[in-house]
Amino acid sequence: MCGIFAYTGKKGKNASGVLLKGLLSLEYRGYDSAGIYLPERGSVKTPGAVAELRKKIPKDFKGKSGIAHLRWATHGEPTEKNAHPHADCEGEVWVVHNGIIENFRELKEKLGQRGHKFKSDSDTEVIAHLVEEHLTTGIGFEKAALAALNDIRGTYGIALQYKKEPDRIIAARMGSPIVLGLGAGEHFIASDPSPILPHTRKVVFLEDGEVAVITPEKHRIFKLDATDVKRKATKIDWSAEEAQKGGYEHFMLKEIMEGPEVIENTLRGRLIPAKGLAKLGGLEGVTKQLEKIERIIIVACGTAYYAGLVGEYMLEEHAGIPVEVELGSEFRYRKPVVNERTAVLAISQSGETLDTLEAVREGKRRGALTLGIVNAVGSTIARETDAGVYNHAGPEIGVASTKAFISQLTALALLTLFLGRQRGMTAQEGKKIAKELQALPAKLAKLLERKEGIASLARKYSDSRDFLFLGRRYNLPVAFEGALKLKEVSYIHAEGCGAGEMKHGPIAMIDEKFPTMAIATKDSMYEKLISNIHEIKARKGHVIAVATEGDKEIAKLVDDVMYVPETLEMLSPILNVVPLQLFAYYFAKGKGLNVDRPRNLAKSVTVE
Ligand code: AGP
Repeated sequence: MCGIFAYTGKKGKNASGVLLKGLLSLEYRGYDSAGIYLPERGSVKTPGAVAELRKKIPKDFKGKSGIAHLRWATHGEPTEKNAHPHADCEGEVWVVHNGIIENFRELKEKLGQRGHKFKSDSDTEVIAHLVEEHLTTGIGFEKAALAALNDIRGTYGIALQYKKEPDRIIAARMGSPIVLGLGAGEHFIASDPSPILPHTRKVVFLEDGEVAVITPEKHRIFKLDATDVKRKATKIDWSAEEAQKGGYEHFMLKEIMEGPEVIENTLRGRLIPAKGLAKLGGLEGVTKQLEKIERIIIVACGTAYYAGLVGEYMLEEHAGIPVEVELGSEFRYRKPVVNERTAVLAISQSGETLDTLEAVREGKRRGALTLGIVNAVGSTIARETDAGVYNHAGPEIGVASTKAFISQLTALALLTLFLGRQRGMTAQEGKKIAKELQALPAKLAKLLERKEGIASLARKYSDSRDFLFLGRRYNLPVAFEGALKLKEVSYIHAEGCGAGEMKHGPIAMIDEKFPTMAIATKDSMYEKLISNIHEIKARKGHVIAVATEGDKEIAKLVDDVMYVPETLEMLSPILNVVPLQLFAYYFAKGKGLNVDRPRNLAKSVTVE
């Protein structure tokens, strides 16, 4: 996600001062690059965040209106060239954008044929040139903007400005948030209310498919078909910090709640459901090599490693490729047998984890094809791998990784579909997987509605000092991840364990003070899990089960149940992990701990 902020007013305020200050409260949304445009003074852009931008702003950079942006890169490296705002050929139409324009390549080609010259690799720039193209018909700025918006497909939250009408700014929302700030003699546009609150608490949230025009004196909202929209303003009583968290108390909860949108963004433009195919643009350059790959070694750390363990099951069962999963910190010191028919696949949210990066370098040294599933565009791992898939999950601020894990599993399912359909997976099976992937966001949204029930469960077990997490097959990595979430935010002892492994030792720990979280959804291992639960109950252990909606039998056996919607076994970790993420969040919150920044941990481990 990126941060947008725009201002127009006649109160004698300096627009660049208002905009730069406002960007500071949006830095959590993106910090790859920053930029600002004032119709009276032109644009200033830089890699990095607000501090770097401020250094480049000339002393006399003043004006009554402008647009500004903080970038979280999705297309195009985080360089000055790709920083927003972007302009048309003549530098008269300027745009800042949050989202992904899916059809930007075809639009860019058509505009290029009409003589438009592009300066960046970003998808956003096509918006400015589209408006410019429509302006040539003499329909005026507002209608040209509306026509351009009707040409594009994808997600956007944008602000548009036209040099010849400096006090007017156009905003539009499709899938990315936009809020208007209504001041006296001044109006604002932003990605969230935090930069607006110092000026006014009167706001209007745009809905998808809506466009707004602001001038110093007034605002107007209409739909893409130009029909007017009347919407009452609301008064925000949040603090600026709460506004950054979307009204949630912590980034961790906000990011868990973003799950449905994260799945949609990871899938966006990458499924061909009618053919049961996945389309991964980032792998286009190595498609031939991938056909010859005989095995995959996944390298990762922490949560990303557990995502890799799920990927192992997916790829072996549905793509027929032998897979091994290695901790980055181990692989780099092994003497792995690797050749050009091996793919080393790195999974990393930050793209900067040194152990994973060094594992990629080791694989490359030994001749492997190196791939990445990375969230941070332009990060070191993304740059050093031969090809890869970006998560498009947006920045993850909470140190405990939650939405990135959901996105990593979704990307692994896409990779499984991509490789599986190269290797004999039938169109029928591919369509089934594609269809269920598309159904996941709604299923996850339904599951998230039960978060208060999980909060009360966390309170019920708040005195526990130990937890055992049990799972099998696809859900064994979920058990490991659930244990990691709980221990890293609440500092208590929690360990994941193969349910079949319990009798080889761990069951000795079980008593009425040592509860077990059992992932026992209706899948190929369900009956085995039920037997394991009986073994625990026979030793007076308390059991909380993650179970499939409608499973009344298990409720008679265990002490508590967290229900999840049914899905394909290979996709079940995407849903099953969420109650465990929420349980860890509420358990730690109940202890008054710093959930977003747990002690001793860093968001990106760039050291040995
Ligand atoms: C996850 O909650 C942890 N913060 C940590 O294990 C993290 O997953 C690990 O450091 C890997 O980070 P990466 O995905 O950025 O490479």
